[in-house]
Amino acid sequence: MKAPGTVVIADDTRASLDLLTTILTRDGYTVHAARDGEEALQLALQQSPDIIVTDVLMPKLSGFELCRWIKGNRATRFIPVVLVTGLDGARERIEGINAGADDFLHKPVNAQELQARVRSLVRLKRFTDDLDSAESVILSLALTVEARDPCTGGHCVRMSSYASLFGTHLGLPDDDVTALARGGYLHDVGKIGVPDAVLLKAGPLTPSEFAIIKQHTVTGDQLCGDLRPLRLVKPIVRSHHERIDGSGYPDGLAGDAVPLLAQITGIVDVYDALTTDRPYRSALTSAVSLAELDAESRRGLHQPDLVCAFAELHRSGRFTQPTRRGTDLQGHVVTDPLRHAI
Ligand SMILES: [Fe+2]
Repeated sequence: MKAPGTVVIADDTRASLDLLTTILTRDGYTVHAARDGEEALQLALQQSPDIIVTDVLMPKLSGFELCRWIKGNRATRFIPVVLVTGLDGARERIEGINAGADDFLHKPVNAQELQARVRSLVRLKRFTDDLDSAESVILSLALTVEARDPCTGGHCVRMSSYASLFGTHLGLPDDDVTALARGGYLHDVGKIGVPDAVLLKAGPLTPSEFAIIKQHTVTGDQLCGDLRPLRLVKPIVRSHHERIDGSGYPDGLAGDAVPLLAQITGIVDVYDALTTDRPYRSALTSAVSLAELDAESRRGLHQPDLVCAFAELHRSGRFTQPTRRGTDLQGHVVTDPLRHAI
């Protein structure tokens, strides 16, 4: 029978460690026992357990420090941590909550309570793992879309990097910057629903073909569904082609109704389209592309403050330029207006 989960137990008291190990091993868990916090941390990194049950007072690394480390590390933050607290539980509980603990057990540990806590947290962890894998499925869909179009090679990576650099430059909170980095990869995931004949068409698009292309925003939004990790990414996927004068799609949003992260992604999307080769023109230089973005903002398509900030980011020297493989066309921007808009 498949083990119901992997557990790391940390306790410097031998008797207590043996007792917890016996109870959970009997229930079918794979148990890794640690005599101090440092050993528990090593085991957490090596074994990717489904849960950590740890004593508070331990040599080398306390239960609080272990918990803080686990919750602060990207690779381990979804592992539930149960703190086993002593008689003076209240104070330890508050400190445990601050350290990010998911649950508590009091000494002496009641076997049934331990079994119930571990069972429910492992179930929750499995659910989080599923969400993580759903997110990876969508990400691989996005990369599949990119691979279909030889003109857009590397677009996702550049978008992710540009958008997060821009978000950091604007001083946005970490969650928004992370959403921008993910949105860079996922913004065009809905193109999975656009037939090759339309997506890869060399000539100008007919209005009905353009209508099919526009649907990629709505399809992408639906693909993201209700996945919690994509909560902040969804508006980027749906609205990165909206323009603040209301001329964009799919909803014709205007002004502040266009979500900020979608506006940022829209600006870097235009920038990346301009600075890369297209079948109908060579890549433009960064300076010419920024001038085109400035012209677009004067025509009311983008917030002038944002376009200014983007130019400022370039001047700061913190912006990584794409490889320039083409030249600008005597300083004049030549684009197919429909292609430019996808
Ligand atoms: Fe798009």
